[in-house]
Amino acid sequence: MKNYYFDNSATSSPKPDSVYDVVDYSIRELNGNPGRAGYRKSLEISREIFKVREIIADFFNVEDSLNIAFTANATESLNFAIKGTIKENSHVITTNFEHNSVLRPLFSLRDEKNVELTFVNTWEEIEKEIKENTKAIVVNHISNVNGTIQNIKEIGKICKKKNILFIVDASQSGGYTKIDMQENSIDILCITGHKSLFGIQGIGAICLNTSNTIYKIKPLLEGGTGSFSKYERQPLEMPELLESGTLNTPGIISLGAGIEYIKSQGIENIEKHENLLIEKFIIEIEKLERVKVYKSITKKQGPVVSLNIENVDSGELASILDEEFGIMVRPGFHCAPRAHKAIGTYETGTVRFSFGYFNSEDDIDYIVESFKKILDEI
Ligand SMILES: Cc1ncc(COP(=O)(O)O)c(C=O)c1O
Repeated sequence: MKNYYFDNSATSSPKPDSVYDVVDYSIRELNGNPGRAGYRKSLEISREIFKVREIIADFFNVEDSLNIAFTANATESLNFAIKGTIKENSHVITTNFEHNSVLRPLFSLRDEKNVELTFVNTWEEIEKEIKENTKAIVVNHISNVNGTIQNIKEIGKICKKKNILFIVDASQSGGYTKIDMQENSIDILCITGHKSLFGIQGIGAICLNTSNTIYKIKPLLEGGTGSFSKYERQPLEMPELLESGTLNTPGIISLGAGIEYIKSQGIENIEKHENLLIEKFIIEIEKLERVKVYKSITKKQGPVVSLNIENVDSGELASILDEEFGIMVRPGFHCAPRAHKAIGTYETGTVRFSFGYFNSEDDIDYIVESFKKILDEI
């Protein structure tokens, strides 16, 4: 049986060939420790890593590539961003569509630092919730449950006007749609490498816009940086401030190759293709009786959507899809519990379909035909 992968929100698969090639190359050939020695190999690795900082800076329009720190994933970036900047007794606005990698750090701050949280469903509700002590707005650009896209440009304008820190979780949007940190007035952009950016797992980044001086980020990790070895405290310079320990060279190199691939295809073409797939999928699947689709609650839909078949458990449906049709999807709650409260699936969970650049229109036809067979039988 052929396998069909529709779990690109969890991690993209497959990767472009160039990504497999550079990972192989980096493990074989770039196998020294970057920034820790002066021999030629170490310097070469440092140069390759610097190139990837430049690639990321160019791709997301980060002011200065040195203000990009590599992390393990979006979760680490978001912890750095949230716990490293938000102070005691402040007020934070966020959305009900956040992933646990935003929710849990925020709930820690609520419990440990008396930080007050306000949740909204969409970006339109944000401005009226701003208070005197509102210090940060943290927003998931694209929901990994139903593809809700928040208007980061409008939120950025509000943040700029009111001098509020703007933190964006771009886990689902980076690599699918163009994100410009300056145009959207984003102070901190958190990305993960292994989803639409086509890198391997274990690499992410946090990008800082330093023109906004309302915050100073505190490091959550301290340790060896390969520089300033005699300092007792963590260096204040970026990227060392947020980069302790040996970097993930193969991951970084893979992320660079992933972004180069996206540039070679044109990100607008990627977005167009994925939009075509999600539109076709929603139209066709909504025609089927007993199928309830949970789509974006704003005007714009990302390439991910949830659904349920009436009276069928989401886990059971995902198992049938996998075992009988080779269709790989994710059931359950997708690490975003409040999103399920917002869309009315907190008790049941959902089956999530998330499309990627390597999916085709034929794949959508196959899913719809498979659903027709399932619906005939249950
Ligand atoms: C919206 C969102 N934020 C954050 C994350 C966390 O990403 P990672 O597991 O790569 O840290 C995910 C992963 O699914 C996500 O969908």
